[in-house]
Amino acid sequence: MRIVSLQSGTSADGIDVAVVDVTADADGAVLRSRTDFPGPGPESAGDPSQPWLTLSCALARTVPWPPALRQRILAAAGDASVTAEEICQLDALLGQQFAQAAADALGELADAGGASADLLVSHGQTVHHWVADGHARGTLQLGEASWIAEATRAPVLCNLRAADIAAGGEGAPFMGVFDAAWLGSAARELGRPLATLNLGGIANLSVVSPDGSVRAWDTGPANALVDAVLARATDGVTSFDDGGRLAATGTVHETLLRDLLRHPYLARSAPKSTGRETFGLAVVDAHPLDLPLADLVATLTRFTAESVVASLRAECPELPERVIVSGGGVHNTTLMAHLRTLLQTDAVTVDTSAAHGIDPNAKESLLFALLGFLTWHGLPCTLPGTVPGGARLAGQLVFGPAAVRLPAPLTAIRGLSVVPAGGTVPA
Ligand SMILES: Nc1ncnc2c1ncn2[C@@H]1O[C@H](COP(=O)(O)OP(=O)(O)O)[C@@H](O)[C@H]1O
Ligand SMILES: [Mg+2]
Repeated sequence: MRIVSLQSGTSADGIDVAVVDVTADADGAVLRSRTDFPGPGPESAGDPSQPWLTLSCALARTVPWPPALRQRILAAAGDASVTAEEICQLDALLGQQFAQAAADALGELADAGGASADLLVSHGQTVHHWVADGHARGTLQLGEASWIAEATRAPVLCNLRAADIAAGGEGAPFMGVFDAAWLGSAARELGRPLATLNLGGIANLSVVSPDGSVRAWDTGPANALVDAVLARATDGVTSFDDGGRLAATGTVHETLLRDLLRHPYLARSAPKSTGRETFGLAVVDAHPLDLPLADLVATLTRFTAESVVASLRAECPELPERVIVSGGGVHNTTLMAHLRTLLQTDAVTVDTSAAHGIDPNAKESLLFALLGFLTWHGLPCTLPGTVPGGARLAGQLVFGPAAVRLPAPLTAIRGLSVVPAGGTVPA
């Protein structure tokens, strides 16, 4: 089935739109993920009556938010007190932008002879994740999905996190659902855990064990603090540290680094999730120091790497064989170098998802396409904080103009492969 995935992460850098073709291979043919691992692949993984999925991206790109709208998103997600009128307007305006991004992508593929979408999955733009006593109580993603259904004339799955929270879960992070399906068989073959790290605004880790179980949690900030500090210092002209070049010229302020590492979120054990409300400028401003900008950025970049590695060490009695990194942070060479240096002492390899056939910028888009496929086929999602028996179907369906007929439910999937961009999967 053809699924369009729409989302904008905590960085609010733009709409990630992807058109993903998902095929469910009932007899487990030879398609498998292009990884360096000697994974057993679909032939021997799990119950052969369950399908093995193959995901292929027909198109994936990021459509930047119009700058004025991005400022309104960041204001709504930040500390500013926003009115109901502003939330209402943003909900509609963002829905229209998501709709345009989806319609443009589908239009291009239609011009090239492609089929229309069977389903769209829209995560929306998170503006608040309500956490009390360490647990999620609510979450708010903006971008009314009716605009998307109207523009594409197809059903849209939205509000993906709410059911898990209402059932006692944390509603986040989702990436473990993808990673368990993607890396489960490889971890089993290797006999060691495999981890993934997504470096968006917030950093989240998934660890897939050889028994196929997965743990996933937010470690703290990825790029959020560096982005916020740079945007403030340059009046919004620069919104990220391109390539990590500024961090590379600065000197890490060791006292500030130690103070930052005392943030109470870092001491909590997983499962846990966080967002901009916790890791915004207030974290930096709590330590008033008159540092050169390069030194501050160098220190915050190091803070991200140290907090990720400390969290991995604290949570994993058995460290993973490698950490596969995705998200915009893979382009920050300084951050990646810190991660490699720190994890070298643990003999943990650090590489990017590109080495395993997945564009680091598109991995979250593939995740949301997978969630769409699962819900469409009646498969609930177990997130790290989901209470026993509390796994729920993710999302709410907005009907397009036509009646919707759901397929026969599946009981499980065995795993998934991703066709590398522009290529075919090697046998
Ligand atoms: N070339 C680059 N150099 C350094 N950092 C980058 C680069 N490109 C993107 N980033 C970082 O990645 C962030 C966006 O990553 P993304 O995975 O889209 O996060 P989110 O899911 O939070 O939107 C940007 O805000 C920026 O900090
Ligand atoms: Mg993004």
